[in-house]
Amino acid sequence: MAVIATISSSPSTTSRTDAVLGDLAQRVQRAGHVVHPIVLRDLPAQPLLRADAEHDDIARAACALERADAVIVSTPVYKAAYSGLLKAFLDLLPQTGLKDKVVLPIATGGSPAHVLAVDYALRPVLASLAPSAITPGWFVLASEVTRLDEGEVSIADSAAGPLAEVTRVFLDAVAGSLLVAAADAAHRGELLTRSVAVA
Ligand SMILES: Cc1cc2nc3c(=O)[nH]c(=O)nc-3n(C[C@H](O)[C@H](O)[C@H](O)COP(=O)(O)O)c2cc1C
Repeated sequence: MAVIATISSSPSTTSRTDAVLGDLAQRVQRAGHVVHPIVLRDLPAQPLLRADAEHDDIARAACALERADAVIVSTPVYKAAYSGLLKAFLDLLPQTGLKDKVVLPIATGGSPAHVLAVDYALRPVLASLAPSAITPGWFVLASEVTRLDEGEVSIADSAAGPLAEVTRVFLDAVAGSLLVAAADAAHRGELLTRSVAVA
């Protein structure tokens, strides 16, 4: 079982990106993992913009991210890139803010012309934070997501299929990363036992 943080970075309270993220979170939970949501628009604006990493709410969000084994980063495409809210949060993280984590990048946008934003804007900034892997992401067209009554969401088949596939690849990478971490821990334990025996 892995702990997976989800980063929601749309300022909108009726966010289509959140609808997609919610769908992915359910898939991840169904696979037996624990999800820790980080909703950036709920962070206090002034400390966020002043890069006050010591502020309780911001420190808590950064800590939730640090403790996670993996993270799904979702953003609406704004001006052919990611949201300013996401940038403000990523700017608060240390240079190794995604160390040892597997990352799944997801974006929604209004125009298929900006499908590349996932790979030319979002992926590089995530890569700069030293993740262990960034698995293939997906761009969902806003028109593929419909908010129905009572908070229900419908995601068109054209997006649901690829989202299922990128989630599968992401979870395979998470499982591989947990195995490597467990093998490393066992190896360190063995070395410690040997050094105690020698002493
Ligand atoms: C300020 C702003 C800038 C946007 N810029 C782009 C853009 O450059 N390319 C694009 O495809 N969509 C753009 N859009 C559309 C949004 O990416 C799209 O509607 C997205 O699904 C909104 O996600 P949300 O409902 O989670 O906020 C923009 C929307 C806003 C409000």
